[in-house]
Amino acid sequence: MAKLFLICGKGGVGKTTNASAVALALASKGEKTLLLSTDFTPAIGDVMETDIGSEFTKINDYLTAMEIDRKTITERWISKFGPDFHQILSRLVDIENLDRESENSLLEYISSAPSLREETMLDFIVELSENENYDKIIWDSAPAGETLNLLNMPSLLKKHLKSGTKIYDSLDKLTKFRSGRKSISKIIDEWAELSDYISRYIKENAAFIIVTNPERVVYSRTKDIYHTLIDYRMNVHGCIINKIFRNISDKTFKKQQDKALKDLYNLFHKLPVAELEHSIHNVNTRQNLEKTGQKLIKKLQIS
Ligand SMILES: Nc1ncnc2c1ncn2[C@@H]1O[C@H](COP(=O)(O)OP(=O)(O)OP(=O)(O)O)[C@@H](O)[C@H]1O
Ligand SMILES: [Mg+2]
Repeated sequence: MAKLFLICGKGGVGKTTNASAVALALASKGEKTLLLSTDFTPAIGDVMETDIGSEFTKINDYLTAMEIDRKTITERWISKFGPDFHQILSRLVDIENLDRESENSLLEYISSAPSLREETMLDFIVELSENENYDKIIWDSAPAGETLNLLNMPSLLKKHLKSGTKIYDSLDKLTKFRSGRKSISKIIDEWAELSDYISRYIKENAAFIIVTNPERVVYSRTKDIYHTLIDYRMNVHGCIINKIFRNISDKTFKKQQDKALKDLYNLFHKLPVAELEHSIHNVNTRQNLEKTGQKLIKKLQIS
């Protein structure tokens, strides 16, 4: 049974709502659950009707939530990779003579590069997932494009790092080796290894749940997401078809919804699929969300 579930899908389909529902239901069964958002415009707090933010926030005895923000990622990058970077920079430029503030802003600037930010985010999630504190982590991701970029990042970063090997080797030769310091090549090798590890970890340990709606345009995007995940060899665990309208009187609308439903079932014929009606009663209170989540975890075999 997977521990890390990544809820993904096109914008607005109901990722945050369903991630929250699943997390509440797991917690109600006594599973220690972390509900995590990596969307920089997070909404778990809105759904749960409580302030969450970037700290670990207790929702109840079994449920903790956290909305990871840019600042947390930058700080984490600086504390984890900053010293290595400092070392590399100090071989190239006279960083030792920079004042603290300039040095910090330099590091902050470097760490805000998109690939490093995403890599740091994944590194953080892998660390949380390896942590024994939680039985399950439900990860509410940003709309599809960003999440897919995120998953591609470790291999891109590794390729990039590796392509610089010759340069780092020559820099190592040029610069005087001071004892107690790692060579640039060694630092880069370690980063590339970490990238590899993160990639492998996500492939082997993350179970993806795709949220979608029975609508032509959403179906098209869902199909792309599904195929991209399969191309990346990710483990797609199941699908939630959310916002289904029952009792439609408009024939054209009904026909379109039926067609999208049929297409979605064809696409996901090998996977468990949970259906959810478009109804305020599925999502309006924490109690109702928990009930919705209970249906979802049963149907999707999450617990
Ligand atoms: N089954 C449902 N019935 C009625 N309304 C729903 C249902 N599921 C979600 N909603 C509503 O749809 C809206 C979008 O939901 P949500 O924020 O969960 O989507 P999202 O995929 O996380 O969006 P984003 O991509 O912007 O993060 C919210 O107003 C939510 O209350
Ligand atoms: Mg959301």
